Amino acid sequence: MKQLFAMLALFFSLALLFSAIRENAAAQTDSRPKSYATEPDWNDPQRLIPLNFQQARGQRLFYQYCVWCHADATPAGPSNRANLSPVPPLLNDGAALNGKSDEFLRDIITRGGGALGKSAMMPPYGGTLTREEIRAVIAFVHAIAQPAFQPAAAR
Ligand code: HEC
Repeated sequence: MKQLFAMLALFFSLALLFSAIRENAAAQTDSRPKSYATEPDWNDPQRLIPLNFQQARGQRLFYQYCVWCHADATPAGPSNRANLSPVPPLLNDGAALNGKSDEFLRDIITRGGGALGKSAMMPPYGGTLTREEIRAVIAFVHAIAQPAFQPAAAR
């Protein structure tokens, strides 16, 4: 009888110990940042898109340089986008941008629309942004794309 109690006591204390260890591990995982930032899905603001470090860097650059022409709402209010001709695509417009290669995106952002036979209203950023920063903006564009960007779909 005494042995049985001892066994039971051992069993329960081990069970307690393991559940405590498990909880602790879970708490540690939860406290790690899941993403560096989020961007609301422009088509469905209830849905937050998690951004990794590079995409979050691109997000900051986008809201500094691109939002004025490539979004309908800006931090300062409605954008001027609709008054431009040609009207620049929304930068989350997957239908317009998912099929464009990273090389094309890098080129038009670096050299501007004029250099590629497109509208010179698209300014060149090669003197303003570093190559890393331009890569970050492109990563952000892919992250917010609707329909979603599939790397294999880009040529
Ligand atoms: C002053 C307004 C303006 C700003 C600011 C601007 N763009 Fe543009 N952008 C345009 C216009 C206009 C076009 C359309 C050019 C055309 O189709 O002839 C364009 C086109 C583009 C395209 C090509 C789209 C396509 O379908 O081929 C990309 C990519 C792009 N812009 C990215 C950016 C990024 C990234 C930034 C910020 C770093 C930026 N633009 C800032 C006006 C702007």
